[in-house]
Amino acid sequence: MSSIDYSQKIPNNVNLSEDRTLQRALESWQPDYLKWWQDMGPDGSHGFDVYLRTATSVDPQGWAHFDYVKMPEYRWGIFLNPAEQDRKIHFGDHLGEAAWQDVPGEHRANLRRIIVTQGDTEPASVEQQRHLGLTAPSMYDLRNLFQVNVEEGRHLWAMVYLLHKYFGRDGREEGEALLERRSGQEDNPRILQAFNEKTPDWLSFFMFTYFTDRDGKFQLCALAESSFDPLARTTKFMLTEEAHHMFVGESGVSRVIQRTVDMMNQLKTDDVQKLRNAGVIDLPTLQRYLNFHFSVTIDLFGADESSNAATFYSTGLKGRFEEGKRADDHILKGQHYKVLNVVDGKLVDKDVPMLNALNEVLRDDYIKDSVGGVTRWNRVIEKAGIPFRLTVPHKAFNRRIGALAGVRVSPEGQVVSEAEWNAKVKDWLPTAEDRAYVTSLMGRVVEPGKFAGWIAPPVMGINRQPVDFEYVRFN
Ligand SMILES: [Fe+2]
Ligand SMILES: [Fe+2]
Repeated sequence: MSSIDYSQKIPNNVNLSEDRTLQRALESWQPDYLKWWQDMGPDGSHGFDVYLRTATSVDPQGWAHFDYVKMPEYRWGIFLNPAEQDRKIHFGDHLGEAAWQDVPGEHRANLRRIIVTQGDTEPASVEQQRHLGLTAPSMYDLRNLFQVNVEEGRHLWAMVYLLHKYFGRDGREEGEALLERRSGQEDNPRILQAFNEKTPDWLSFFMFTYFTDRDGKFQLCALAESSFDPLARTTKFMLTEEAHHMFVGESGVSRVIQRTVDMMNQLKTDDVQKLRNAGVIDLPTLQRYLNFHFSVTIDLFGADESSNAATFYSTGLKGRFEEGKRADDHILKGQHYKVLNVVDGKLVDKDVPMLNALNEVLRDDYIKDSVGGVTRWNRVIEKAGIPFRLTVPHKAFNRRIGALAGVRVSPEGQVVSEAEWNAKVKDWLPTAEDRAYVTSLMGRVVEPGKFAGWIAPPVMGINRQPVDFEYVRFN
């Protein structure tokens, strides 16, 4: 069934009312979730009526309904893509066997870890973004922020459903812990480091939704291949929601660029100080923000050689991006892949067993995908006739995880000394001054149709509404 039952306390398309124990467990988690939303959801927003989309079915066509909703009353629920009849495992050692409808005992610990790690990122990003509403550059952007936030909340529901339904008491405890960890908190932080970084301003938010939500896309795509069928079906629907988050990031950065190049042409200058005096974000600063978010995000794929990655694949828990479209044996034993290593201070390719390199395989697929948007951003600059191009830094740049963590590498991929790094890092990563400048631009602009001076309006509104539509009613 693809339509969603909204008559229940917890909207769902999984016949929740037929499983009383599960229903009760989730209904007792629900108030804790709402308490978390009150405490950690978007700051000062609880009384706003926000023009949001809510899922009505999981059909790719027309799954969303748009209306004004107070966010604490958003109908968070459990939506799975329909089951595929007789779905078979299509990679790893169990290739060809029936997909699992329950968790095999021997994979329980690993599956739980995968689900918890994914689940933890969802509330984390809401926490990271919770003050951004106070400095929104427009009502349109404010609404998009809130849409992303409620959907990340929904993604948490998606993972908690799996934990409650398939992991018993352990799962319920994990469900509670997901509401207890806090992004950036010293004694109980979120699991992955990128989700403990601050998202202090809207440029960071757009970069985060472009780069880091795209990491989400790749992780979810890999989990959508899982032999554990409920996980595959859950993540498939999450991916439908994720597309909008990346759109917010790509179009957001694109609009910042548009405003900057317009000002460059108007003032006939590329002088950073003159552009800052005019209140726009200069292209070199955009490049440094890009370098930061890209490098922090690619760390999320984990160590370049990983026996866990091999286990997750061979046991059928986590596939590759677009596993089904690949023309190899889907077992990968005896195959090799090149990862970067550092030998005598130089970057060199190293052949490693493919199975151990699957984090790197996913990272490389991610990098290919993220370059696409950067190319589209460059078109905006090119169209304005400006000879500057944004680039994605080398994948060894600014890494904290894996073999590349111990070496200093320039964005162009040259290994540099510590002294050279220290001398040049201000050109490569956002400086305190850059961040202070970007922060200084963040004022609240929320009259319908008005936009802050550092960002261009979007080409069109949400759900075919005009750009100056009243997307948020503050009451
Ligand atoms: Fe998410
Ligand atoms: Fe997302």
